[in-house]
Amino acid sequence: MAATIIDGKAIAATIREELAVDVAAFHADSGITPHLAAVLVGDDPASAVYVRNKQRACEKTGIASTLHRLDADTSQDQLLDLVNQLNADADIHGILCQLPLPEQIREQAVLDSVSPDKDVDGFHPENVGLIAQGRPRFLPCTPHGIQQLLIRTGVETSGAHLVVLGRSDIVGKPMGLLMVQKAEGANATVTFCHSRTRNLAEIAATADILVAAIGRPNFVTAEMVKPVAVVIDVGINRVDDKLVGDVDFDPVSEIAGAITPVPGGVGPMTIAMLLKNTLTAARGLHADTSG
Ligand code: GUN
Repeated sequence: MAATIIDGKAIAATIREELAVDVAAFHADSGITPHLAAVLVGDDPASAVYVRNKQRACEKTGIASTLHRLDADTSQDQLLDLVNQLNADADIHGILCQLPLPEQIREQAVLDSVSPDKDVDGFHPENVGLIAQGRPRFLPCTPHGIQQLLIRTGVETSGAHLVVLGRSDIVGKPMGLLMVQKAEGANATVTFCHSRTRNLAEIAATADILVAAIGRPNFVTAEMVKPVAVVIDVGINRVDDKLVGDVDFDPVSEIAGAITPVPGGVGPMTIAMLLKNTLTAARGLHADTSG
């Protein structure tokens, strides 16, 4: 039987509508409009599209956004100066430095320089530490978006074996960290697999929930998927001008119980969670992880 398609686009639209109501209520109470500053360095076309989509989503939700575009040859010090200005600007609640950054800039130095209270990506080490300890301030957008997809499609995560393929700081590591927490929508038994894992295919085939975040087109084949597993595809790979995920969609969807498409699965959820974090930042509150 073919898998249920998890419609991330529709779920993200619902979340954005909920957030628009919350943003309007917050504005009515406080007079404050949440404001995101997006920083885009260089002219990577894919990054420009992502940032534009994030800004459009802000606009639709009643969140202000300002784009700071810097040349590809911007120095690390110039970028750090801008981040420091934004850190000091009381009208800016969230700061997002779109990755990847040009090679002359050390990404970690920039991510570390963002004020932890404005770190709507959830990349600052203080915020990663808070997640590890189960008291999050900002949840990283893609893992949080995936958790919301699971919650809102009624997938039982408690006690489930969740296998994460990939160990990036943006997706793989925080995904596992989030799902192992003692919390609603988590409590999973987590296994990380990566490029040095010996028997990755066999481990993946034991997953109740398989999260593919390795950045290799069509890497996950039907043999790596347990019947009726939930398969979450984080990959966005461009192959012959077509976007494909990390999962070989057609054969895997014959085996899986549910699967996210690319595009229209995880991507829109990442943006919805960025909006949620921007509202959280404006409120100056810690993250509400319940929904
Ligand atoms: N590049 C790819 N994904 C992301 C993301 O979630 N946040 C930022 N800042 N850059 C990215």
